[in-house]
Amino acid sequence: MVANPVSQRLSNRRILLGIAGGIAAYKSAELVRRLRDHGADVRVIMTRAATEFITPMTLQALSGHPVHLDLLDPAAEAAMGHIELARWADLLVIAPATANTLSRLAEGRADELLTAVALATRAPVAVAPAMNQAMWANAATQANLQTLAARGIRVMGPAEGSQACGEVGAGRMLEAPDIADRVAAMFESRLLDGVRVVITAGPTREAIDPVRFISNHSSGRMGFALARAAAAAGAHTTLIAGPVHLPTPERVQRVDVVSAADMLAAVETALPDCDLFIGTAAVADYRPAEVAQQKIKKQAETLSLALTRNPDIISRVTQASPRPFTVGFAAETNDVLAYARNKREAKRLDMIIANDVSVPGIGFESTENAVTIISSHGEQSLDRMPKEQLADTLIHAIADAYSQQHPNP
Ligand code: C5P
Repeated sequence: MVANPVSQRLSNRRILLGIAGGIAAYKSAELVRRLRDHGADVRVIMTRAATEFITPMTLQALSGHPVHLDLLDPAAEAAMGHIELARWADLLVIAPATANTLSRLAEGRADELLTAVALATRAPVAVAPAMNQAMWANAATQANLQTLAARGIRVMGPAEGSQACGEVGAGRMLEAPDIADRVAAMFESRLLDGVRVVITAGPTREAIDPVRFISNHSSGRMGFALARAAAAAGAHTTLIAGPVHLPTPERVQRVDVVSAADMLAAVETALPDCDLFIGTAAVADYRPAEVAQQKIKKQAETLSLALTRNPDIISRVTQASPRPFTVGFAAETNDVLAYARNKREAKRLDMIIANDVSVPGIGFESTENAVTIISSHGEQSLDRMPKEQLADTLIHAIADAYSQQHPNP
């Protein structure tokens, strides 16, 4: 669990950092690092003047993404255009915001990338002014600030003190940690902020020979829906997926696997960075004892396959130290609750989510599900609903139970 309250608010957030051309731009490099250390995904827009003070290469290396420079560059627009950037952002912070950029923002100019994105975004916008103290004090700058503040743009700073130009007064940009704290405070905290969640989903495929395999009907939909809901709730989410045809939810890191052995290996790799594990995968219980190197030819009327038990992945998780909060699923066709209760104890799960896969229209390949949540706190049945909606409800219940075990310091 990430205990730092700034990280809790910033984890998984998409921060667009605009850098205008002022000497304080050197502090923007530190700001990128701070925001990323707190778990935010940061992309950078620089004005041309900013590139005179700090190189795009520095910001690219620190942010992990190419820097956006031009409004009218077809290649950059094709990769991620100004409207997409504006949509991508959860927050736009312009640091440093020079007197010129503040003026252009107040005017609503769209003749270069940074102010165009500021116009196009629906995300909150913050500015951290930085300029010579006389420019700051000038009535034109103050009028621009009032205009921006009246439009809901958050003004952070500036601080007072000695300036790069040798003068003393108000106009220094706030320090990076201070800006990061103020940016964090602009976000509400969410249910799973900063929690590292690992989810398994889909079926596994156990090879018989190079062209055949044993598998099951799991679609992966429940696990993918939970991954989307967990990421939306602020969790750093890793989704370990068997072979399914589903798009990766936004803000989710996906690891594709084929067999139960692959899935176990991926889970073991992820475990050291896991606070909360949710096993929705329908892991094949058995695999062929031997995988034929060549396609098995049809000859005899009958063919027997010797099968070997697969490892129980979720039981490995509950044996790990430290042990994540662990949630399993139980798909049953009869005596659903009794089996699920036993399974919860046998696998030492914190919570199990039981569903009756014998009922037509719910469970495995369908888009809807009806489940019962079983934990040490009791049992709660949820009526049939679309898996997407159910995922949000389940993430609520899981986050509640998780936070009871891991109260915030
Ligand atoms: O034993 P059963 O397959 O019914 O248990 C279901 C739960 O155990 C699910 O959460 C499933 O993801 C997990 N499981 C596992 N590894 C297995 C079998 C099941 O992680 N080999």
